[in-house]
Amino acid sequence: MQVNDVVAYIQADRDRFLADLKEWLAIPSISGDPAHADDVRTSAGWLAEYLRGQGFPTVEVWETPGLPAVFAEWPAEDPGAPSVVVYGHHDVQPVEPLEEWETEPFKPLEKGDRLIGRGASDDKGQVFFHTLGIRAGLAASGRQAPPVTIKLLVEGEEESGSAHFAELLRTHRDRLACDAVVISDTTMWSADVPSMCTGMRGLAEAEVTLRGPESDLHSGSFGGAVPNPLHAMASLLAALHDDDGRVTLPGFYDDVVPLTDEERELFARLPFDEAEWLRTAGNSRAAHGEKGYTTLERVWARPTAEINGMWGGHTGPGGKTIVPREAHAKISFRLAAGQDPRKVQEQFREWVAERTPAGVEAEVRTPHGGVRPCFSPIDSPGVKAARRAMERAFGTDVLFTREGGSGPEADLADILDAPLVFVAVGLDGDRIHAPNEKVEIPLLLKGAEAAAYLWEELATALR
Ligand code: BES
Ligand code: MN
Ligand code: MN
Repeated sequence: MQVNDVVAYIQADRDRFLADLKEWLAIPSISGDPAHADDVRTSAGWLAEYLRGQGFPTVEVWETPGLPAVFAEWPAEDPGAPSVVVYGHHDVQPVEPLEEWETEPFKPLEKGDRLIGRGASDDKGQVFFHTLGIRAGLAASGRQAPPVTIKLLVEGEEESGSAHFAELLRTHRDRLACDAVVISDTTMWSADVPSMCTGMRGLAEAEVTLRGPESDLHSGSFGGAVPNPLHAMASLLAALHDDDGRVTLPGFYDDVVPLTDEERELFARLPFDEAEWLRTAGNSRAAHGEKGYTTLERVWARPTAEINGMWGGHTGPGGKTIVPREAHAKISFRLAAGQDPRKVQEQFREWVAERTPAGVEAEVRTPHGGVRPCFSPIDSPGVKAARRAMERAFGTDVLFTREGGSGPEADLADILDAPLVFVAVGLDGDRIHAPNEKVEIPLLLKGAEAAAYLWEELATALR
């Protein structure tokens, strides 16, 4: 295959590719908000129709007890060729606060090299580059079918915890049988330093309610003489970390696989610019975290606890002198390799029960069972092949990194019994989950180019 043919095809197709992607981005497929359930279904239907138009011989919408996934299969010409599952998701995060968007989140807008809109980077844009990559690869090689059997699986519940995904994988295990799973839902080191992810953290979430008196009370008549649930919540959550920034749940670190000296050395060799990183961190004014670890180690390989929201009592205009009846908080833990989300949820439950003061009642809810950390062996033939494809597209060395975020990748690897191969072109600065999410169009096109080379590299490597 001539590199130039692939590049020329992608360039020629650029405008149509972006126009189609914008149509998909306009569908507000927010899986976490029940009011948008039908939009997630519309998004699945839209994608299915699109993939049929792209030439996939088999396209199916796979229902779940929740929201649907899309499955599309393009068999290799050679029936003995390897099979590869490509994973992404078509649901997106909520868009609040709306007033901070410079464009409307579901009216995608091209601005210079950027495409702005919810889902542009996480993850519709990254699913989409595969469709262009496959077409470019076929066009350049003159083939009618790809050199490996491609099984595209695009989930609709990733942003709300993939509640039914493991079950879906088990149900369709035979049809999803594969030699590798390509994940396109992560980031690269930077626009000019391409990289591949080798592991993601896990996630455990919990919601705490503390209840005190049956109703709000006058703080003059009763304050200081009965427990205040918001104070109890503040003390409780303040105790989640010690002075060294370590999480205080008993046993929390027991299962964490420690970083080896070799891994720490590799991390330290990456061209990390903390000031630049702080800018991508919403212009945070200082780095912060567990003592004894660097920023990259903290984000990629250490577990954390985070308060995501707390509320209760009077938050409207003016004062209101009360003892509030309830306090609420949402907490999440990022988990490092070795940790189990259910065990951490249990540790948190016990910890809250033990520390709840007399006169306050605590309830801990766990919205889903959490997400396990995942790991990709960098010497697997699939990873090496994908790295060659990335290097051909970017024309430079490809580094290995990890990722602080989470997803159902461990289930994919375990249930399908196949190694994970991360091929993705998002950036830390893409503002995923935040206002003004964007993707760099040149990187999407590079992703398509890498995807075009990927199938022949994998066909050789996985045989
Ligand atoms: N694509 C992200 C995971 C990710 C985040 C990769 C940052 C690389 C960098 C994924 O869509 C995501 O947001 N996952 C959630 C999972 C949760 C909602 C269960 C996450 O990590 O918070
Ligand atoms: Mn994602
Ligand atoms: Mn996400």
